[in-house]
Amino acid sequence: MDRSAKTLLVPFATGDVAPPAAESDWLFLNAVDLGAAGDLFEQVRLCCVQPSRPRFLALERAGHEVWPNAPVDEPFDGALVLLGKHRRLNEAMIAKANDAVRPGGLVIIAGDKAVGAASARKWAGGQVALGGSLAKHHGIAFWFPATEGAFANVALAQTEPAPGFAAAPGMFSPDKVDAGSALLAENIDGRIAGAVADFGAGWGYLSGAVLAQAKPASLDLIEAYRPALDQALATLSSLRGEVPVTGHWLDVTTEPMPGPFDWVVMNPPFHTGRASEPDLGRAFIAAAARALKPSGRLLMVANRRLPYEKTLRDRFASFEERAVRDGFKLVEASRPRRSKGQDAAASAWG
Ligand SMILES: C[S@@+](CC[C@H](N)C(=O)[O-])C[C@H]1O[C@@H](n2cnc3c(N)ncnc32)[C@H](O)[C@@H]1O
Repeated sequence: MDRSAKTLLVPFATGDVAPPAAESDWLFLNAVDLGAAGDLFEQVRLCCVQPSRPRFLALERAGHEVWPNAPVDEPFDGALVLLGKHRRLNEAMIAKANDAVRPGGLVIIAGDKAVGAASARKWAGGQVALGGSLAKHHGIAFWFPATEGAFANVALAQTEPAPGFAAAPGMFSPDKVDAGSALLAENIDGRIAGAVADFGAGWGYLSGAVLAQAKPASLDLIEAYRPALDQALATLSSLRGEVPVTGHWLDVTTEPMPGPFDWVVMNPPFHTGRASEPDLGRAFIAAAARALKPSGRLLMVANRRLPYEKTLRDRFASFEERAVRDGFKLVEASRPRRSKGQDAAASAWG
């Protein structure tokens, strides 16, 4: 179980707070599976909210009731909040939990010390009278009774990473266009036509470039982080013209992709936590190969240091590095192989 999730349950174990009443309704923001420790909530209707598709699917597999967005109209008896690494997002979650719980109901928050749980506690304590706090498992838990009017002016502020685009904390590069994405966008032109997909579309910058600079017959956005996908679709609604634009909230690495596509463009993610995980990008390359038509092409950008060449060679009959800039490489690959390990002879690269 997640270390901070353990911390979240400690106030119940110590008796600092009363266990949740049977048949009560609880909200769990940024939920994870609590495993056996979650038996405490066995008699409770626990509404889990998880906007990240891989974590959402893990919760579903564990048998939880789970939603990508917090329900708006339901008053809950209590709420759990698991802090993440984005300060503004954490503050917005705490405010949302306070609003969603009936006055006097318990809101319990926990997070790892490394992601700023102490400053979240200090911030919350400035908005509402805390009921208590403790430290355990490298994390901090604190709690308060939901209080009407507290956190009144707290909302997740939108950012404008590029003219005409909007984003928010928690999304990829919410304040400015990523240098790799800029390199890819500059190379999107009229050659990119037919059924086009943007894998890991984020708040929609590359999709915007496809609509503005290419000739798509259709555009499919695939993205795991639901707020980013929703934002991208909202932004693109004014740019799409007659082009059908479809959003898919999917995990590229584990779920079947729509398609087949003539082109896939992507700036794949390369870490989920702090460590760099090229396996994520490799899984994106494999998924793109599977989703492309036999004549389809992949145009991708990646950090130059990331070793994707073997995967490209395994999954495409041909690929070339078209540009290098700011530590990023732009790669175009063609003739996807249906499965790994077929003829790897025709690589244009090492
Ligand atoms: C490097 S960012 C690129 C975002 C956007 N294309 C751009 O250029 O600004 C990678 C994106 O992939 C998304 N992502 C990460 N893991 C994913 C997965 N397993 N399936 C689908 N999308 C994923 C992230 O949420 C993020 O928006």
